[in-house]
Amino acid sequence: MAMAGVVLAALATLATAQPPTCTTLPSNQTYDYIIIGSGAGGIPLADRLSEAGHTVLLIEKGPPSSGRWGGTMKPAWLSGTNLTRFDVPGLCNQIWADPVGVSCTDTDQMAGCVLGGGTAVNAGLWWKPHPVDWDSNFPAGWRSKDMQAATEKVFARIPGTTHPSVDGKRYLAQGFEMLGGSLEKAGWEFVTANEQPERKNRTYGHSTFMFEGAERGGPLATYLLSASQRKNFSLWTNTVAKRVVRSGGHATGVEVECNGAGYAGIVSVTPGSGRVVLAAGAFGSAKLLFRSGIGPTDQLNVVKNSTDGATMIGSDSWINLPVGYNLNDHVGTDIEIAHPDVVFYDYYAAWNKPIPEDKDQYLNTRTGPLAQAAPNIGPIFWEIINGKDGIPRHLHWQARVEGSRPTSMTITQYLGTGSVSRGRMIITRQLNTLVSIPPYLRHEADKAAVIQGLVNLQESLKDVDGLIWISPRPNVTAEGFVNSIPAIPSRRGSNHWIGTAKMGLDDGRQAGGTAVVDLNTKVYGMDNLFVVDASIFPGMVTANPSAAIVIAAEHAAGRILGLK
Ligand SMILES: Cc1cc2nc3c(=O)[nH]c(=O)nc-3n(C[C@H](O)[C@H](O)[C@H](O)COP(=O)(O)OP(=O)(O)OC[C@H]3O[C@@H](n4cnc5c(N)ncnc54)[C@H](O)[C@@H]3O)c2cc1C
Ligand SMILES: *[C@@H]1O[C@H](CO)[C@@H](O)[C@H](O)[C@H]1NC(C)=O
Ligand SMILES: *[C@@H]1O[C@H](CO)[C@@H](O)[C@H](O)[C@H]1NC(C)=O
Ligand SMILES: *[C@@H]1O[C@H](CO)[C@@H](O)[C@H](O)[C@H]1NC(C)=O
Ligand SMILES: *[C@@H]1O[C@H](CO)[C@@H](O)[C@H](O)[C@H]1NC(C)=O
Ligand SMILES: *[C@@H]1O[C@H](CO)[C@@H](O)[C@H](O)[C@H]1NC(C)=O
Ligand SMILES: *[C@@H]1O[C@H](CO)[C@@H](O)[C@H](O)[C@H]1NC(C)=O
Repeated sequence: MAMAGVVLAALATLATAQPPTCTTLPSNQTYDYIIIGSGAGGIPLADRLSEAGHTVLLIEKGPPSSGRWGGTMKPAWLSGTNLTRFDVPGLCNQIWADPVGVSCTDTDQMAGCVLGGGTAVNAGLWWKPHPVDWDSNFPAGWRSKDMQAATEKVFARIPGTTHPSVDGKRYLAQGFEMLGGSLEKAGWEFVTANEQPERKNRTYGHSTFMFEGAERGGPLATYLLSASQRKNFSLWTNTVAKRVVRSGGHATGVEVECNGAGYAGIVSVTPGSGRVVLAAGAFGSAKLLFRSGIGPTDQLNVVKNSTDGATMIGSDSWINLPVGYNLNDHVGTDIEIAHPDVVFYDYYAAWNKPIPEDKDQYLNTRTGPLAQAAPNIGPIFWEIINGKDGIPRHLHWQARVEGSRPTSMTITQYLGTGSVSRGRMIITRQLNTLVSIPPYLRHEADKAAVIQGLVNLQESLKDVDGLIWISPRPNVTAEGFVNSIPAIPSRRGSNHWIGTAKMGLDDGRQAGGTAVVDLNTKVYGMDNLFVVDASIFPGMVTANPSAAIVIAAEHAAGRILGLK
């Protein structure tokens, strides 16, 4: 049923929002900026660059998502409304039940390939970064004091909320009350996280979401809205960027292919002054660099040996940069507890058969359980562990009401800021990206922090009446448990990939250099090619990263506009 709905929806998309077939590009239209990818990085950047009076083309490979932009994928109970599956917080986990036509098919990891990218499919968790996220990871010009103005701009447009239902109530809060109350008794302090982003050591609070009016909101409902009102802004959906067309170190345009609909051909930047920005995500931007002859020679040789090979830029023009290295993600470690107070709500069932009162409540007044992200996320809590190697490591714990029993809560521990392990992504001859070296727990001090965090939580919850540890069982040590979970994406992955085109001063073309982009996000060896998305993050942030990426894009816009 769900599958058939998606197929029909896809056809409807073609019929309405897109030209019915591929459109060959006019050869004379050029743009000051061509931005590839409409996710957390691409949309805010497109808004800021078009606001400054430039002609901006935003290219997105996927179809429209939110109803606001002509998206049509939805369950029957949303027909006749302006909402799609992407707009309703309670349906956000549908990406896991039915990813067809939504998730990217050219990578071995979960990512959204629709308008909005991750910001269209994610759970909307929205965090002001801890100052140390910038200070410990980023180079000069990108420290927390430098990011202050961008942070304020982003949170003025997308303030976020701790009570998504518009009546201000939190529905099904039993899990929050039980676990938050237990942490409080053990000495953890309650915080309103985005008012005190620096207080992330033995604190807990409600989840904060980018939702507005109990709809997804975020960049799709703010930055893209203002951009689209400008005559100088264009958006092409269902259009895949194949490669950047360049002459030596100068990008002249982008070669595009249509994805069922959309555009095909070469679209050029304004001669002389035009620029190309990759914002296709940690895997998408790296792949585009490879296909454009920029990356480690082993990967460029794979592209050379693929269907791209005959038309790939000559090896005399290849730029040898460490694209794909420095890969990172939050290390996820799932634990499960159960408590008789906890009440499960079946968000997955709400796709086909929402509880009638809850459906009406949501549709009529934007209140009730469906106004909240599946599967009832919270509390969130934080601790900083002093690493054995002297580096403090930030743990972000995220609880949800879901597990092996109706009274279960699954809690994921994310290891973020301070983690030193890194992995690698590569490309295959089929032009798909793979995580070849998972970035999880490759260093002892990272592992020790994960174990210590679990020990501390076990200690904090040891006297809670009625609480049962389901995983790890009481007879299993924290160390044994952490070691028993394979350090691979399917078991530890958090969908928070970063780092494949690292920002830094140490030009990666030089021996020992690790950076792919400079402090203006410009690719080393190129005059006018930039990367603005999760790829440029040198290290992991504390919490779910989308807000940090939007802030980085705001900040990057100022730096790019300032470049002569
Ligand atoms: C299921 C899921 C849940 C998540 N939950 C949260 C959460 O609750 N809170 C949070 O903060 N973070 C969450 N994240 C992570 C967050 O969404 C991402 O970190 C963020 O969106 C990354 O931003 P980005 O700009 O780097 O790339 P993306 O947002 O992934 O955007 C990249 C865009 O580029 C497009 N693209 C790629 N290649 C091409 C090409 N060749 N041509 C044209 N277009 C292309 C893609 O279709 C996509 O739209 C989640 C991620 C996933 C997958
Ligand atoms: C491009 O060429 C077409 C056909 O010659 C013309 O109608 C259009 O106005 C031109 N556009 C620009 C931006 O010059
Ligand atoms: C649109 O872009 C052109 C070319 O960059 C510029 O000359 C013009 O002022 C812009 N218009 C607006 C309304 O910003
Ligand atoms: C749907 O319509 C309502 C009422 O006009 C509006 O507030 C909301 O932003 C719209 N949502 C979308 C996703 O278009
Ligand atoms: C975090 O709190 C612990 C005590 O619980 C303390 O030892 C540690 O120094 C704190 N870390 C930071 C970075 O504040
Ligand atoms: C190129 O592809 C062929 C398969 O068609 C394979 O046998 C060969 O090893 C590849 N060469 C390189 C350098 O990857
Ligand atoms: C822990 O106890 C469970 C039964 O509750 C048992 O199945 C498991 O083997 C035990 N594990 C260890 C390491 O003793």
